[in-house]
Amino acid sequence: GMQTRLFSGGPASAVGTTGSAPALHILYGSQTGNAESVAEDAAAAARTHGFAPAVSALDDIDSAAFASLGRVLIVTSTYGEGEMPDNAELFWDALSAESAPRLDGMDFAVLALGDTGYDGFCQAGKLIDMRLEQLGATRIVPRVDCDVEFEDVATAWIAETLPLVAAVEGINGEGVAAPPSEAVPARAKSQWTRKNPFPATLTANRLLSGEDSAKEIRHFEFALADSGIEYEAGDALNVVPVNDTGLVGSLLSVLELDGETVPDGHDETLEHLLTYRYEITAPNVDLLEAVEERTGNEELTYVLRHGDKAALDEWLWGRDILDVLALEPAPAFSPEELLSVLKPLQHRAYSISSSPNSAERSVHLTVAAVRYGTDERERRGVCSTFLADRVGENPVGIFVTKNKSFRVPSDDTAPMIMVGPGTGIAPFRGFLQERRARGATGKNWLLFGDQKRSCDYIYEDELADFVESGLLTRLDLAFSRDQAQKIYVQTRMKEHGAELFAWLEAGGHFYICGDASRMAKDVDLALHEVVAEHGGMSAEQAAEYITALKREKRYVRDVY
Ligand code: 2AM
Repeated sequence: GMQTRLFSGGPASAVGTTGSAPALHILYGSQTGNAESVAEDAAAAARTHGFAPAVSALDDIDSAAFASLGRVLIVTSTYGEGEMPDNAELFWDALSAESAPRLDGMDFAVLALGDTGYDGFCQAGKLIDMRLEQLGATRIVPRVDCDVEFEDVATAWIAETLPLVAAVEGINGEGVAAPPSEAVPARAKSQWTRKNPFPATLTANRLLSGEDSAKEIRHFEFALADSGIEYEAGDALNVVPVNDTGLVGSLLSVLELDGETVPDGHDETLEHLLTYRYEITAPNVDLLEAVEERTGNEELTYVLRHGDKAALDEWLWGRDILDVLALEPAPAFSPEELLSVLKPLQHRAYSISSSPNSAERSVHLTVAAVRYGTDERERRGVCSTFLADRVGENPVGIFVTKNKSFRVPSDDTAPMIMVGPGTGIAPFRGFLQERRARGATGKNWLLFGDQKRSCDYIYEDELADFVESGLLTRLDLAFSRDQAQKIYVQTRMKEHGAELFAWLEAGGHFYICGDASRMAKDVDLALHEVVAEHGGMSAEQAAEYITALKREKRYVRDVY
């Protein structure tokens, strides 16, 4: 299986040193590009400490070679609820196996990126850190876990870790001349970041889905103007939302607080802070506990103290912060107490649905506006309804994160199979635009679906044009509720399994975008079935075939 492949020996890719500087391997597990970007920052710093750094994804390292790397820095995010990022999965399979080799000569340090809003906070980093120690490797510095605001913590970790690594190596970084610049391709970093987003104009906000749809899917366009923002099809656009002023007002009134107050330790009014600086929609655990302390509400006490995550999730379903604060007896918070249990307002990342080569100086998004709740009060997703309802004439803070593993094939003749139901179509609209702009001749196959053709067939005209022009070789649709039997994208994959396998055999790249919890898992299962059936393989052989696709970066996902 995977382990044999991973332990098969041979040189590790991306492992190379220049001159006599000692090698330092900086490995990342990254889902959306953040950990990769930290790894590259660490590499830049490593050079100034006299190392010859080599940066690569964990899965690009052959594990036989891994055991002989000597000294590694690992930066990994955690994906979903405690899972390994896609490009660290094979590495973890091998490392966690009973047959994993001892690592007694290795020195390591782990930086874990995560989100305290999810179960399994920094789990991927924690597991790797623990397992390396178990296998005999020496930890140079204790692991550091970062929450969503990882930048400063990561920078501090790099600054503290590298001198210690240099000390282990017996080199003194001070005064070490940086190698000549041609040997160090500087990474062009956008000046627009989370802390300094570009104030963009929203130039289009159009409803894509029909009236009868269960969803409200919208098309948005931002002018990039002279921002200098560069992106590629497959990247993510981060949007900094502003909270709903109506919600801010309700929050102030239910807590009987004055919005004009300037809370201690702040220099902005409470109203301003709640509008621009804090998450005031989804309840977090600190807030729940503070409310429980104050109300002694039995139900809340039960779901919090019972230790049953499923019960808590069920209780939270459909409730926002206002619902929690409306519990009886009414909880009292001072402005400072309230702010201390709220999380800083975060940007939201969306898969870009355009290609820069097609939509010149603009960037497009395809977003479902999240609205739920009762007739009395609509609960709203923070950023999706900000974009849909509340931008007005105001600039919107945006910045791009690169997703280098989610790209059209560099070979313009390679076939491309894209599975993207619902808003999962977004990056593939960008991919198709990109291939058109490049004049790429490779075949393109899109599998798209949703509930009903009449109201959920978004971008229908554009897709028809892509088909007509010959760019889109195959378009298979799966509308689940247009007939008695459920038809899903994976149903279509299996119906056309012979052809799907033939495309893979012809060097095809397979992409999935959209729902991670059910769709992506079932599509993966269907892919295994198709490969087994049409490749005449056992389940085990099919799994190996698909592992090889992943290694060759011909099976990549953008799922959420
Ligand atoms: P449904 O009719 O069963 O809700 C977007 O939500 C689309 O994804 C809907 O058509 C929905 O079908 C479908 N969907 C739900 N579960 C799925 C799964 N496990 N795999 C693929 N599509 C799924």
